[in-house]
Amino acid sequence: MDFTYSNLQDIYNKILSDSDLEYDQLKNKYFNKKTGLVPSALSQISKLPKEERVEYGKQVNILKKYVQEQLENKLKEKYSYSIKSRIDPTAPFDVNTQPDKRPHILNQRGSKHPLTAEIEKLVKIFQNMGFDVLESRQIDDDYNMFESLNFPKGHPARDMYDTFWTEDGYVLPAHTSTMQNRAMKKFGPPPISVVMPGRCFRNEATDASHEHTFYQMEGIYIDKGVSIADMKGTIKTFLEAYLETQLEVRIQPSFFPFTEPDCEFVISCPFCSKAGCSVCGYSGWIEIMGCGMIHPNVLTEGGIDPETYSGFAWGFGVDRLTMIKLGIKDVRLLRESNLNFLRQF
Ligand code: DAH
Repeated sequence: MDFTYSNLQDIYNKILSDSDLEYDQLKNKYFNKKTGLVPSALSQISKLPKEERVEYGKQVNILKKYVQEQLENKLKEKYSYSIKSRIDPTAPFDVNTQPDKRPHILNQRGSKHPLTAEIEKLVKIFQNMGFDVLESRQIDDDYNMFESLNFPKGHPARDMYDTFWTEDGYVLPAHTSTMQNRAMKKFGPPPISVVMPGRCFRNEATDASHEHTFYQMEGIYIDKGVSIADMKGTIKTFLEAYLETQLEVRIQPSFFPFTEPDCEFVISCPFCSKAGCSVCGYSGWIEIMGCGMIHPNVLTEGGIDPETYSGFAWGFGVDRLTMIKLGIKDVRLLRESNLNFLRQF
C-alpha cells in the first residue's frame, strides 16, 4: 500500500476501527518491518517532493506515537491479571495466584523424584542399624579420589575411574569411596559406622545401564575384630530390609586397590528366586555391589592403626538398586525430566 500525505488521515481513522485486534495482530499490522503500515509510511518520506516532507514526517510520527499508545494499552490488557492487585509476599502460595489463570499449576502437586525417595529409604535403614550419615562432595581432589585410597600416582587402576577434571586439577568424583578418608578422620577413633550417599560422575558412553551422572552409597564399619563374616551379615541384612524379601547371598573375587580381599556381593534374584528372569539376565543371581575388608594402607592414611582395628567397606549404585526395586528398564529415565515417567512414582 502506498502512502501519501492525503491518505494518512484515513489510516488514522482506520486504527480506531481496529480496536478488536489482539496485541500481536495489531503489532504485526502496524510495525512489521516489511509489511507494517508505519515502516511503509516512513519509507515514503524520501519519495515526496521536498516541500511536503516536513509536514508529512510530522504526521507520520504522530501516527506512530498513537499506534504505540494503542499497543501499550493492549499489552496492559493482556497482562492485567498480574498487575490488577498488589501481591502479599508473605502469604501462602495460593493467595496471590488466580486459579482461573493458572489451572495448570494448581491442579498438579509435585512429588519427590524416585531417586530422592529411595535415597531417603536407604539412609533410614542404615540409621536404624546404627550408622551415621555423611553426604559426599560433588567436586573433590586427587588425594581423596585416589591417593588416600591406595592408588599411587600413575597406577593403571586409576583408569577404571575415568571421570571429569577441572582445568585446575579438581575432580568430579567417580565413586563415593572419596569419602572414606574423611569419614575415618571425622568419626574416628573406632568404632566407626558411616554411610556416605552422593552423586558420582563418569566419562561414559551412555546406554540403558550406563549414565555419566549417578548416585552411589558408600559404607564403612571399623572396630576391633571386625571380620568378613560381619561384612556379609551387615550387607545381607540391609538388602533384605530394602528389597523386602529373604535373599541368598554369596561373595566372589574382584579387584579394588582400597580393599583386601576385594569382593563382589551377589544376591539371589529377588524376583524369580533363582528361576531366571529378565531382571537377573536369566542367571538367577545379581551382582549388586563392590565390597571388601579395608586395606591396611587406607586405614593408616585415615589415622587408624591396622594392627589394632579392622573394618569393611562397600559401595553400590543407588540408581541400579532403584531400577531393580521399581522395575525401571533404562537408567536414563532417571535423569530426564519426563513428567509422564515421573508421575508414576
Ligand atoms: N568404589 C567402587 C566402585 O565404584 C565400589 C566399592 C568397592 C566401594 C569396594 C567400596 C569397596 O567401599 O570396599 O567401583
